[in-house]
Amino acid sequence: MNPDSGPESRQKRYFVRTYGCQMNEHDSERIAGLLEADGLGVTNDLAQADVVVLNTCCIRENADNKLYGHLGGLKTLKDSRPDLQIVVSGCLAQKDEALIQTRAPFVDVVVGTHNVGRTVELLHEAKVAGPVMEILTESEAFPSALPVRRDLGWSAWVTIQIGCDNNCAFCIVPSVRGREISRPFDDVVAGVEALAGAGVVEVTLLGQNVNSYGRDLSMARRAAGESVAARPLFAELLRAVGAVEGIRRVRYTSPHPKDFRPETIAAMAETPAVCDHLHLPLQSGSDRTLAAMHRGYTAQRYLDKLAAARRAIPDLAVTTDIIVGFPGETEDDFERTLEVVAAGEYDSAYTFIYSPRTGTEAAERSQDFVPAEVVSDRFERLRIVVERSALARHEARVGRVEEVLVEGPSKKDSGVLTGRTGQNKLVHFVSPDPLAVGSFAEVRVTRAAPHHLRGELLEVTARPRHRTRIPVASL
Ligand code: 5AD
Ligand code: SF4
Repeated sequence: MNPDSGPESRQKRYFVRTYGCQMNEHDSERIAGLLEADGLGVTNDLAQADVVVLNTCCIRENADNKLYGHLGGLKTLKDSRPDLQIVVSGCLAQKDEALIQTRAPFVDVVVGTHNVGRTVELLHEAKVAGPVMEILTESEAFPSALPVRRDLGWSAWVTIQIGCDNNCAFCIVPSVRGREISRPFDDVVAGVEALAGAGVVEVTLLGQNVNSYGRDLSMARRAAGESVAARPLFAELLRAVGAVEGIRRVRYTSPHPKDFRPETIAAMAETPAVCDHLHLPLQSGSDRTLAAMHRGYTAQRYLDKLAAARRAIPDLAVTTDIIVGFPGETEDDFERTLEVVAAGEYDSAYTFIYSPRTGTEAAERSQDFVPAEVVSDRFERLRIVVERSALARHEARVGRVEEVLVEGPSKKDSGVLTGRTGQNKLVHFVSPDPLAVGSFAEVRVTRAAPHHLRGELLEVTARPRHRTRIPVASL
Protein backbone atom coordinates (compact mmCIF):
# COMPACT_ATOMS: atom_id res chain seq x y z
CA MET A 1 0.00 0.00 0.00
CA ASN A 2 1.23 3.48 -0.84
CA PRO A 3 1.17 5.60 2.30
CA ASP A 4 0.99 8.77 0.20
CA SER A 5 -2.09 7.84 -1.75
CA GLY A 6 -4.43 9.84 0.49
CA PRO A 7 -6.66 9.25 3.47
CA GLU A 8 -9.14 7.11 1.50
CA SER A 9 -6.62 4.31 1.02
CA ARG A 10 -4.91 4.68 4.40
CA GLN A 11 -4.51 1.29 6.04
CA LYS A 12 -7.17 0.89 8.71
CA ARG A 13 -5.93 0.47 12.25
CA TYR A 14 -7.17 -1.39 15.30
CA PHE A 15 -6.60 -0.86 18.99
CA VAL A 16 -7.18 -3.64 21.54
CA ARG A 17 -7.52 -3.15 25.27
CA THR A 18 -7.49 -6.29 27.38
CA TYR A 19 -8.88 -6.68 30.88
CA GLY A 20 -8.29 -9.64 33.15
CA CYS A 21 -6.38 -12.88 32.92
CA GLN A 22 -3.86 -14.53 30.59
CA MET A 23 -6.66 -16.39 28.84
CA ASN A 24 -8.06 -13.01 27.86
CA GLU A 25 -4.64 -11.73 26.80
CA HIS A 26 -4.40 -14.71 24.50
CA ASP A 27 -7.94 -14.22 23.14
CA SER A 28 -6.87 -10.64 22.35
CA GLU A 29 -3.93 -12.01 20.37
CA ARG A 30 -6.44 -14.06 18.37
CA ILE A 31 -8.69 -11.06 17.76
CA ALA A 32 -5.64 -9.06 16.66
CA GLY A 33 -4.64 -11.93 14.36
CA LEU A 34 -8.11 -11.99 12.78
CA LEU A 35 -8.09 -8.22 12.24
CA GLU A 36 -4.62 -8.34 10.69
CA ALA A 37 -5.71 -11.17 8.42
CA ASP A 38 -8.49 -8.78 7.35
CA GLY A 39 -5.91 -6.15 6.40
CA LEU A 40 -5.87 -3.90 9.47
CA GLY A 41 -2.70 -2.74 11.19
CA VAL A 42 -2.17 -2.29 14.91
CA THR A 43 -2.00 1.06 16.68
CA ASN A 44 -1.38 1.92 20.30
CA ASP A 45 -2.95 5.32 19.81
CA LEU A 46 -6.68 5.34 20.36
CA ALA A 47 -7.03 8.51 18.29
CA GLN A 48 -5.66 6.67 15.21
CA ALA A 49 -7.91 3.64 15.53
CA ASP A 50 -10.69 2.67 13.12
CA VAL A 51 -11.67 -0.33 15.22
CA VAL A 52 -11.44 -0.39 19.02
CA VAL A 53 -11.80 -3.73 20.81
CA LEU A 54 -12.41 -3.94 24.53
CA ASN A 55 -11.82 -7.54 25.52
CA THR A 56 -13.47 -7.75 28.90
CA CYS A 57 -13.31 -9.63 32.17
CA CYS A 58 -16.03 -10.07 34.79
CA ILE A 59 -14.32 -12.06 37.51
CA ARG A 60 -14.62 -9.23 40.03
CA GLU A 61 -16.87 -6.22 40.12
CA ASN A 62 -14.20 -3.58 39.51
CA ALA A 63 -13.59 -5.21 36.11
CA ASP A 64 -17.22 -4.35 35.20
CA ASN A 65 -16.89 -0.80 36.45
CA LYS A 66 -13.72 -0.24 34.47
CA LEU A 67 -15.38 -1.31 31.22
CA TYR A 68 -18.36 0.99 31.58
CA GLY A 69 -15.98 3.83 32.54
CA HIS A 70 -13.91 3.32 29.39
CA LEU A 71 -17.00 3.05 27.21
CA GLY A 72 -18.05 6.49 28.47
CA GLY A 73 -14.74 7.88 27.15
CA LEU A 74 -15.16 6.12 23.80
CA LYS A 75 -18.57 7.69 23.26
CA THR A 76 -16.96 11.11 22.92
CA LEU A 77 -14.51 9.71 20.35
CA LYS A 78 -17.29 8.02 18.39
CA ASP A 79 -19.36 11.23 18.40
CA SER A 80 -16.48 13.00 16.65
CA ARG A 81 -15.73 10.04 14.31
CA PRO A 82 -18.92 8.10 13.53
CA ASP A 83 -16.98 5.63 11.33
CA LEU A 84 -15.11 4.32 14.33
CA GLN A 85 -16.27 0.79 15.16
CA ILE A 86 -16.34 -0.41 18.77
CA VAL A 87 -16.29 -4.08 19.75
CA VAL A 88 -16.92 -5.43 23.24
CA SER A 89 -15.83 -9.04 23.53
CA GLY A 90 -14.96 -11.52 26.27
CA CYS A 91 -16.42 -12.57 29.60
CA LEU A 92 -18.38 -9.44 30.45
CA ALA A 93 -19.94 -9.45 26.99
CA GLN A 94 -20.93 -13.07 27.59
CA LYS A 95 -22.40 -12.15 30.99
CA ASP A 96 -24.07 -8.82 30.25
CA GLU A 97 -25.20 -9.59 26.69
CA ALA A 98 -27.81 -7.00 25.63
CA LEU A 99 -27.14 -4.84 28.69
CA ILE A 100 -23.99 -3.55 27.02
CA GLN A 101 -25.83 -2.06 24.07
CA THR A 102 -28.60 -0.83 26.38
CA ARG A 103 -26.06 1.07 28.46
CA ALA A 104 -23.84 1.97 25.50
CA PRO A 105 -25.96 1.91 22.31
CA PHE A 106 -23.03 3.19 20.24
CA VAL A 107 -21.18 -0.15 20.61
CA ASP A 108 -21.12 -1.80 17.16
CA VAL A 109 -20.36 -5.41 18.02
CA VAL A 110 -20.89 -7.47 21.16
CA VAL A 111 -19.31 -10.90 20.82
CA GLY A 112 -19.08 -13.56 23.52
CA THR A 113 -16.40 -16.00 24.59
CA HIS A 114 -17.48 -18.91 22.38
CA ASN A 115 -17.23 -17.24 18.98
CA VAL A 116 -14.25 -14.89 19.04
CA GLY A 117 -13.47 -16.24 15.57
CA ARG A 118 -16.54 -14.39 14.23
CA THR A 119 -15.34 -10.91 15.24
CA VAL A 120 -14.37 -9.75 11.76
CA GLU A 121 -17.58 -11.01 10.10
CA LEU A 122 -19.62 -9.27 12.78
CA LEU A 123 -17.73 -6.02 12.16
CA HIS A 124 -18.58 -6.29 8.44
CA GLU A 125 -22.22 -7.03 9.26
CA ALA A 126 -22.40 -4.06 11.62
CA LYS A 127 -21.07 -1.75 8.90
CA VAL A 128 -24.08 -2.59 6.78
CA ALA A 129 -26.83 -3.35 9.26
CA GLY A 130 -25.93 -1.41 12.42
CA PRO A 131 -25.09 -2.76 15.89
CA VAL A 132 -24.94 -6.55 16.24
CA MET A 133 -24.67 -8.91 19.16
CA GLU A 134 -23.76 -12.59 18.94
CA ILE A 135 -23.52 -14.60 22.13
CA LEU A 136 -23.51 -18.40 21.95
CA THR A 137 -24.12 -20.62 24.97
CA GLU A 138 -21.33 -23.11 24.25
CA SER A 139 -18.29 -23.66 22.07
CA GLU A 140 -18.87 -26.54 19.68
CA ALA A 141 -15.28 -27.77 19.86
CA PHE A 142 -11.85 -26.49 20.78
CA PRO A 143 -11.23 -23.38 18.64
CA SER A 144 -7.83 -24.33 17.19
CA ALA A 145 -6.32 -22.70 14.15
CA LEU A 146 -7.51 -19.13 14.53
CA PRO A 147 -4.87 -16.68 13.38
CA VAL A 148 -2.81 -15.21 16.21
CA ARG A 149 -0.80 -12.02 16.40
CA ARG A 150 1.55 -12.76 19.24
CA ASP A 151 2.92 -9.80 21.17
CA LEU A 152 6.22 -11.44 22.10
CA GLY A 153 8.46 -13.33 19.73
CA TRP A 154 10.16 -15.51 22.32
CA SER A 155 7.32 -16.46 24.62
CA ALA A 156 3.84 -17.71 23.79
CA TRP A 157 0.64 -18.73 25.48
CA VAL A 158 -0.79 -22.03 24.41
CA THR A 159 -4.38 -22.77 25.34
CA ILE A 160 -4.79 -26.44 26.18
CA GLN A 161 -8.29 -26.28 27.59
CA ILE A 162 -11.22 -23.90 27.63
CA GLY A 163 -14.09 -23.69 30.12
CA CYS A 164 -14.37 -25.15 33.60
CA ASP A 165 -16.44 -28.02 35.01
CA ASN A 166 -16.00 -27.00 38.66
CA ASN A 167 -18.50 -24.99 40.61
CA CYS A 168 -16.55 -22.91 43.09
CA ALA A 169 -19.27 -20.97 44.89
CA PHE A 170 -17.67 -17.56 44.25
CA CYS A 171 -16.75 -17.98 40.61
CA ILE A 172 -18.45 -16.72 37.47
CA VAL A 173 -16.01 -18.41 35.07
CA PRO A 174 -18.00 -21.63 34.43
CA SER A 175 -21.04 -19.59 33.43
CA VAL A 176 -19.15 -17.35 30.99
CA ARG A 177 -16.57 -19.80 29.66
CA GLY A 178 -18.78 -22.91 29.50
CA ARG A 179 -17.95 -26.56 30.04
CA GLU A 180 -14.41 -27.88 29.90
CA ILE A 181 -13.13 -28.73 26.42
CA SER A 182 -9.55 -29.94 25.95
CA ARG A 183 -7.48 -29.26 22.90
CA PRO A 184 -6.36 -32.53 21.32
CA PHE A 185 -2.96 -33.69 22.60
CA ASP A 186 -1.25 -33.91 19.19
CA ASP A 187 -2.62 -30.52 18.22
CA VAL A 188 -1.03 -28.93 21.33
CA VAL A 189 2.31 -30.60 20.66
CA ALA A 190 2.25 -29.69 16.96
CA GLY A 191 1.39 -26.11 17.91
CA VAL A 192 4.33 -25.93 20.30
CA GLU A 193 6.65 -27.44 17.66
CA ALA A 194 5.57 -24.75 15.22
CA LEU A 195 6.19 -22.07 17.83
CA ALA A 196 9.64 -23.48 18.55
CA GLY A 197 10.33 -23.44 14.83
CA ALA A 198 9.57 -19.71 14.85
CA GLY A 199 12.09 -19.15 17.66
CA VAL A 200 9.78 -19.28 20.69
CA VAL A 201 11.72 -20.55 23.71
CA GLU A 202 9.07 -20.32 26.43
CA VAL A 203 5.48 -21.53 26.42
CA THR A 204 2.79 -21.15 29.05
CA LEU A 205 0.04 -23.76 28.90
CA LEU A 206 -3.30 -22.21 29.76
CA GLY A 207 -6.46 -23.69 31.17
CA GLN A 208 -8.86 -23.02 34.06
CA ASN A 209 -8.09 -26.39 35.63
CA VAL A 210 -5.17 -27.84 33.71
CA ASN A 211 -4.99 -30.99 35.84
CA SER A 212 -8.25 -32.23 34.43
CA TYR A 213 -6.87 -31.71 30.92
CA GLY A 214 -7.88 -34.58 28.69
CA ARG A 215 -10.72 -35.93 30.82
CA ASP A 216 -13.20 -35.12 28.07
CA LEU A 217 -10.85 -36.50 25.40
CA SER A 218 -10.51 -39.87 27.15
CA MET A 219 -14.27 -40.02 27.72
CA ALA A 220 -14.89 -39.43 24.04
CA ARG A 221 -12.38 -42.14 23.10
CA ARG A 222 -13.88 -44.62 25.56
CA ALA A 223 -17.35 -43.87 24.21
CA ALA A 224 -15.96 -44.72 20.76
CA GLY A 225 -14.92 -48.15 22.07
CA GLU A 226 -11.15 -47.52 22.36
CA SER A 227 -9.34 -48.80 25.42
CA VAL A 228 -7.71 -45.74 26.92
CA ALA A 229 -4.92 -45.86 29.48
CA ALA A 230 -5.87 -44.37 32.84
CA ARG A 231 -2.71 -42.25 32.99
CA PRO A 232 -3.34 -38.55 33.64
CA LEU A 233 -2.94 -36.79 30.36
CA PHE A 234 -1.71 -33.48 31.74
CA ALA A 235 1.47 -35.05 33.09
CA GLU A 236 2.07 -36.62 29.67
CA LEU A 237 1.43 -33.33 27.99
CA LEU A 238 3.99 -31.58 30.20
CA ARG A 239 6.57 -34.20 29.26
CA ALA A 240 5.74 -34.01 25.54
CA VAL A 241 5.83 -30.21 25.42
CA GLY A 242 9.01 -30.17 27.51
CA ALA A 243 10.65 -32.49 24.97
CA VAL A 244 10.04 -30.17 22.02
CA GLU A 245 13.38 -29.11 20.59
CA GLY A 246 14.08 -25.44 21.21
CA ILE A 247 11.57 -25.03 24.07
CA ARG A 248 13.65 -24.15 27.11
CA ARG A 249 10.89 -23.14 29.50
CA VAL A 250 7.44 -24.62 30.03
CA ARG A 251 5.03 -22.94 32.42
CA TYR A 252 1.40 -23.65 33.12
CA THR A 253 -1.51 -22.09 34.89
CA SER A 254 -3.61 -22.98 36.78
CA PRO A 255 -3.81 -26.36 38.42
CA HIS A 256 -6.62 -27.03 40.90
CA PRO A 257 -5.35 -28.41 44.22
CA LYS A 258 -8.03 -31.12 44.32
CA ASP A 259 -6.81 -32.55 40.99
CA PHE A 260 -3.09 -31.94 41.48
CA ARG A 261 -1.63 -35.43 41.17
CA PRO A 262 1.69 -37.14 41.98
CA GLU A 263 2.10 -37.81 38.24
CA THR A 264 2.13 -34.08 37.56
CA ILE A 265 4.71 -33.52 40.27
CA ALA A 266 6.84 -36.31 38.77
CA ALA A 267 6.53 -34.83 35.28
CA MET A 268 7.60 -31.44 36.61
CA ALA A 269 10.54 -32.93 38.49
CA GLU A 270 11.71 -35.09 35.59
CA THR A 271 11.28 -32.67 32.69
CA PRO A 272 14.13 -30.16 32.77
CA ALA A 273 12.29 -27.61 30.64
CA VAL A 274 9.34 -27.40 33.04
CA CYS A 275 10.02 -24.43 35.29
CA ASP A 276 10.42 -24.74 39.04
CA HIS A 277 7.29 -22.77 39.70
CA LEU A 278 3.89 -23.89 40.90
CA HIS A 279 0.88 -21.61 41.09
CA LEU A 280 -1.51 -23.48 43.37
CA PRO A 281 -4.59 -21.42 44.30
CA LEU A 282 -5.42 -21.89 48.00
CA GLN A 283 -8.39 -19.45 48.20
CA SER A 284 -8.80 -19.95 51.96
CA GLY A 285 -7.04 -21.73 54.81
CA SER A 286 -10.26 -22.50 56.69
CA ASP A 287 -11.78 -25.94 56.09
CA ARG A 288 -15.23 -24.51 56.78
CA THR A 289 -14.76 -21.82 54.14
CA LEU A 290 -13.16 -24.23 51.67
CA ALA A 291 -16.17 -26.53 52.03
CA ALA A 292 -18.57 -23.61 51.52
CA MET A 293 -16.57 -22.65 48.46
CA HIS A 294 -16.87 -26.27 47.15
CA ARG A 295 -13.12 -26.45 46.64
CA GLY A 296 -12.88 -30.19 47.29
CA TYR A 297 -9.83 -30.15 49.63
CA THR A 298 -8.93 -29.31 53.20
CA ALA A 299 -6.08 -27.04 54.25
CA GLN A 300 -4.08 -30.08 55.42
CA ARG A 301 -4.60 -31.91 52.14
CA TYR A 302 -3.45 -28.83 50.30
CA LEU A 303 -0.33 -28.49 52.47
CA ASP A 304 0.44 -32.20 52.02
CA LYS A 305 0.37 -31.81 48.25
CA LEU A 306 2.57 -28.75 48.49
CA ALA A 307 5.05 -30.64 50.68
CA ALA A 308 5.11 -33.53 48.17
CA ALA A 309 5.85 -31.07 45.35
CA ARG A 310 8.63 -29.45 47.37
CA ARG A 311 10.16 -32.82 48.22
CA ALA A 312 10.30 -33.75 44.53
CA ILE A 313 11.40 -30.31 43.32
CA PRO A 314 13.62 -28.83 46.02
CA ASP A 315 13.98 -25.38 44.47
CA LEU A 316 10.28 -24.91 43.77
CA ALA A 317 8.76 -21.43 43.90
CA VAL A 318 5.13 -21.45 44.95
CA THR A 319 2.51 -18.78 44.37
CA THR A 320 -1.19 -18.73 45.13
CA ASP A 321 -4.54 -16.93 45.00
CA ILE A 322 -6.46 -16.04 48.15
CA ILE A 323 -9.90 -14.54 48.61
CA VAL A 324 -10.59 -12.43 51.70
CA GLY A 325 -14.13 -11.92 53.01
CA PHE A 326 -15.94 -14.87 51.44
CA PRO A 327 -19.54 -14.81 52.80
CA GLY A 328 -19.63 -16.07 56.38
CA GLU A 329 -15.85 -15.83 56.89
CA THR A 330 -15.29 -15.37 60.64
CA GLU A 331 -12.21 -14.02 62.39
CA ASP A 332 -11.35 -17.60 63.23
CA ASP A 333 -11.64 -18.67 59.57
CA PHE A 334 -9.42 -15.79 58.57
CA GLU A 335 -6.81 -16.68 61.18
CA ARG A 336 -6.67 -20.19 59.70
CA THR A 337 -5.92 -18.54 56.35
CA LEU A 338 -3.08 -16.55 57.92
CA GLU A 339 -1.69 -19.74 59.44
CA VAL A 340 -1.84 -21.72 56.22
CA VAL A 341 -0.33 -18.83 54.26
CA ALA A 342 2.54 -18.65 56.74
CA ALA A 343 2.98 -22.44 56.54
CA GLY A 344 2.83 -22.31 52.72
CA GLU A 345 5.91 -20.02 52.63
CA TYR A 346 4.77 -18.48 49.39
CA ASP A 347 7.00 -16.63 46.97
CA SER A 348 4.06 -14.37 46.20
CA ALA A 349 0.29 -14.38 46.38
CA TYR A 350 -2.50 -12.68 44.49
CA THR A 351 -4.94 -11.55 47.14
CA PHE A 352 -8.50 -10.60 46.28
CA ILE A 353 -11.38 -9.09 48.16
CA TYR A 354 -14.46 -11.25 47.67
CA SER A 355 -16.70 -9.73 45.03
CA PRO A 356 -20.26 -11.04 44.68
CA ARG A 357 -21.02 -12.14 41.12
CA THR A 358 -24.69 -12.39 40.23
CA GLY A 359 -25.65 -15.94 39.37
CA THR A 360 -23.03 -17.59 41.61
CA GLU A 361 -24.02 -19.48 44.74
CA ALA A 362 -22.08 -17.28 47.15
CA ALA A 363 -23.69 -14.10 45.84
CA GLU A 364 -27.04 -15.38 47.19
CA ARG A 365 -25.67 -15.26 50.72
CA SER A 366 -25.98 -11.50 51.16
CA GLN A 367 -26.97 -11.93 54.83
CA ASP A 368 -23.47 -13.40 55.40
CA PHE A 369 -21.46 -10.73 53.58
CA VAL A 370 -18.54 -9.53 55.67
CA PRO A 371 -18.58 -5.77 56.42
CA ALA A 372 -16.21 -3.80 54.17
CA GLU A 373 -14.12 -2.41 57.04
CA VAL A 374 -13.55 -5.90 58.47
CA VAL A 375 -12.52 -7.14 55.01
CA SER A 376 -10.08 -4.30 54.42
CA ASP A 377 -8.48 -4.85 57.82
CA ARG A 378 -8.05 -8.58 57.05
CA PHE A 379 -6.76 -7.82 53.58
CA GLU A 380 -4.02 -5.64 55.06
CA ARG A 381 -3.07 -8.27 57.66
CA LEU A 382 -2.85 -10.88 54.91
CA ARG A 383 -0.69 -8.60 52.79
CA ILE A 384 1.81 -8.29 55.62
CA VAL A 385 2.05 -12.08 56.08
CA VAL A 386 2.44 -12.64 52.32
CA GLU A 387 5.12 -9.97 51.96
CA ARG A 388 7.02 -11.33 54.93
CA SER A 389 7.26 -14.78 53.38
CA ALA A 390 7.97 -13.40 49.89
CA LEU A 391 10.83 -11.30 51.24
CA ALA A 392 12.26 -14.24 53.19
CA ARG A 393 12.11 -16.43 50.06
CA HIS A 394 13.77 -13.71 48.00
CA GLU A 395 16.46 -12.97 50.58
CA ALA A 396 17.41 -16.64 50.48
CA ARG A 397 18.33 -16.16 46.82
CA VAL A 398 20.82 -13.34 47.36
CA GLY A 399 24.28 -14.44 46.20
CA ARG A 400 22.92 -17.13 43.89
CA VAL A 401 23.46 -17.20 40.16
CA GLU A 402 20.19 -17.38 38.24
CA GLU A 403 19.46 -17.67 34.55
CA VAL A 404 17.02 -15.02 33.37
CA LEU A 405 15.10 -14.64 30.15
CA VAL A 406 15.47 -10.97 29.21
CA GLU A 407 12.16 -9.11 28.79
CA GLY A 408 13.46 -5.60 28.07
CA PRO A 409 14.17 -2.37 29.92
CA SER A 410 12.67 -1.99 33.37
CA LYS A 411 9.44 0.04 33.44
CA LYS A 412 10.83 2.48 35.97
CA ASP A 413 14.39 2.89 34.71
CA SER A 414 15.28 2.37 31.05
CA GLY A 415 18.95 1.94 31.99
CA VAL A 416 18.09 -1.23 33.86
CA LEU A 417 17.09 -4.51 32.22
CA THR A 418 14.41 -6.85 33.44
CA GLY A 419 14.38 -10.60 33.14
CA ARG A 420 12.55 -13.51 34.67
CA THR A 421 14.03 -16.55 36.34
CA GLY A 422 12.67 -20.06 35.89
CA GLN A 423 10.91 -19.51 39.21
CA ASN A 424 9.13 -16.58 37.53
CA LYS A 425 10.86 -13.95 39.62
CA LEU A 426 11.51 -10.55 38.14
CA VAL A 427 15.16 -9.57 38.28
CA HIS A 428 16.32 -6.03 37.53
CA PHE A 429 19.95 -5.80 36.51
CA VAL A 430 22.35 -3.40 34.85
CA SER A 431 24.05 -4.46 31.66
CA PRO A 432 26.94 -2.53 30.12
CA ASP A 433 25.53 -3.27 26.64
CA PRO A 434 21.95 -3.42 25.48
CA LEU A 435 20.67 -6.99 25.45
CA ALA A 436 18.06 -8.17 22.97
CA VAL A 437 14.75 -9.29 24.42
CA GLY A 438 14.52 -13.07 24.42
CA SER A 439 18.21 -13.50 25.33
CA PHE A 440 19.18 -15.73 28.24
CA ALA A 441 21.68 -14.33 30.72
CA GLU A 442 23.23 -15.38 33.99
CA VAL A 443 22.91 -12.84 36.77
CA ARG A 444 24.10 -12.87 40.32
CA VAL A 445 21.32 -11.86 42.74
CA THR A 446 22.50 -8.94 44.85
CA ARG A 447 19.37 -7.68 46.61
CA ALA A 448 15.90 -8.83 47.51
CA ALA A 449 12.57 -7.03 47.73
CA PRO A 450 9.08 -8.53 48.25
CA HIS A 451 8.14 -8.33 44.56
CA HIS A 452 11.46 -8.49 42.72
CA LEU A 453 15.18 -9.18 42.91
CA ARG A 454 18.14 -7.07 41.86
CA GLY A 455 21.22 -8.53 40.28
CA GLU A 456 24.34 -8.04 38.23
CA LEU A 457 25.00 -9.47 34.80
CA LEU A 458 27.59 -12.23 34.65
CA GLU A 459 27.26 -13.46 31.08
CA VAL A 460 24.89 -13.83 28.18
CA THR A 461 24.16 -17.53 27.72
CA ALA A 462 21.93 -17.53 24.62
CA ARG A 463 20.88 -15.02 21.99
CA PRO A 464 17.30 -14.91 20.70
CA ARG A 465 16.34 -16.90 17.63
CA HIS A 466 12.92 -15.37 17.00
CA ARG A 467 12.15 -12.90 14.26
CA THR A 468 11.49 -9.42 15.58
CA ARG A 469 8.64 -8.72 13.15
CA ILE A 470 6.10 -11.34 14.09
CA PRO A 471 3.87 -12.46 11.25
CA VAL A 472 0.29 -13.52 11.86
CA ALA A 473 0.23 -17.28 12.00
CA SER A 474 -2.23 -20.05 12.79
CA LEU A 475 -0.49 -21.59 15.77
N1 5AD B 1 -14.23 -12.52 44.16
C1 5AD B 1 -12.92 -12.38 44.45
N2 5AD B 1 -11.96 -13.11 43.86
C2 5AD B 1 -12.34 -14.02 42.94
N3 5AD B 1 -11.63 -14.88 42.20
C3 5AD B 1 -12.48 -15.56 41.41
N4 5AD B 1 -13.74 -15.15 41.63
C4 5AD B 1 -13.68 -14.20 42.59
C5 5AD B 1 -14.66 -13.42 43.25
N5 5AD B 1 -15.96 -13.54 42.99
C6 5AD B 1 -10.18 -15.03 42.30
C7 5AD B 1 -9.80 -16.45 42.73
C8 5AD B 1 -9.23 -17.04 41.47
C9 5AD B 1 -8.62 -15.82 40.80
C10 5AD B 1 -8.35 -15.97 39.36
O1 5AD B 1 -9.60 -14.82 41.02
O2 5AD B 1 -8.81 -16.35 43.74
O3 5AD B 1 -8.25 -18.04 41.72
FE1 SF4 C 1 -13.55 -20.66 38.84
FE2 SF4 C 1 -13.15 -22.77 40.43
FE3 SF4 C 1 -13.23 -23.09 37.75
FE4 SF4 C 1 -11.14 -21.84 38.86
S1 SF4 C 1 -11.74 -23.99 39.19
S2 SF4 C 1 -12.31 -21.18 37.05
S3 SF4 C 1 -12.11 -20.77 40.56
S4 SF4 C 1 -14.92 -22.45 39.09
